[in-house]
Amino acid sequence: MHRFFDSTIRPLLDVTRLSTMVEVGAEQGLHTARLLPYAVSRRAHLHVIDPEPLFATGQFRRQYSDHATLHQQISHDVLPSLGTPDVAFLDGDHNWYTVYEELRILDRTCGAWPLTFLHDIEWPYGRRDLYYAPERLPAEHCHPHASSGIVPGQSELAPEGFNASLINATHEGGPRNGVLTAIEDFLDATERELSLFIAPGNNGLAIVVDRKRLRKRRFAQVLRRVHDARAGAELSPRHASSALAAA
Ligand SMILES: C[S@@+](CC[C@H](N)C(=O)[O-])C[C@H]1O[C@@H](n2cnc3c(N)ncnc32)[C@H](O)[C@@H]1O
Repeated sequence: MHRFFDSTIRPLLDVTRLSTMVEVGAEQGLHTARLLPYAVSRRAHLHVIDPEPLFATGQFRRQYSDHATLHQQISHDVLPSLGTPDVAFLDGDHNWYTVYEELRILDRTCGAWPLTFLHDIEWPYGRRDLYYAPERLPAEHCHPHASSGIVPGQSELAPEGFNASLINATHEGGPRNGVLTAIEDFLDATERELSLFIAPGNNGLAIVVDRKRLRKRRFAQVLRRVHDARAGAELSPRHASSALAAA
């Protein structure tokens, strides 16, 4: 996610009214470190959710107590209590169940739909689940999985493949598998009028936007600049055509 901050995220935040943002999945805090000064500059509050952040949490709490709250819990346990954030960054556990539920919680609990960014919608996790901790998920929502690597163009895992130390679904594609599949399934299920935009590269960034927001000229201009129509190739045909139409 952090690689998109300067090119894509910050320009969209600059044309968005915001007082509260939520970041799911902080890890070493590379994206958090960009968001925090931004939140301070906009007098906004940032909620950071990660059960196992890899940065100095004591220093974080001391330094940013006025502008940020760190929740060392999983997203599903925190998001329902946060009301309606203006912006949501979803970059936590990259599997269908987690992402689909995060989006459904936002749908259920938010008044206006937050400007929502989701990372890792291209290969390798667009159509394949990753499980940070499979024991935290209902067993029926985990595909067969193994600590083995991912090879482009191949469904089966291989020890020499990419991210071999992580717990990956043993097959790619099919129902309820991967981050992009979760977004598409959510868009099919929600009654809100939402559109999906894509900034490609760096494993891909999805931007899920309430269509009413597209009437705001400056916001729509920035969005059209960062969206790449060719990225529609990543999407299933029904979503590709609606993304292109919205752009
Ligand atoms: C891909 S990293 C985040 C990278 C970060 N956003 C960046 O741009 O540098 C994913 C993080 O999500 C956290 N995570 C895993 N499952 C989670 C969950 N259910 N809720 C919130 N965070 C979760 C992991 O602990 C890990 O630190």
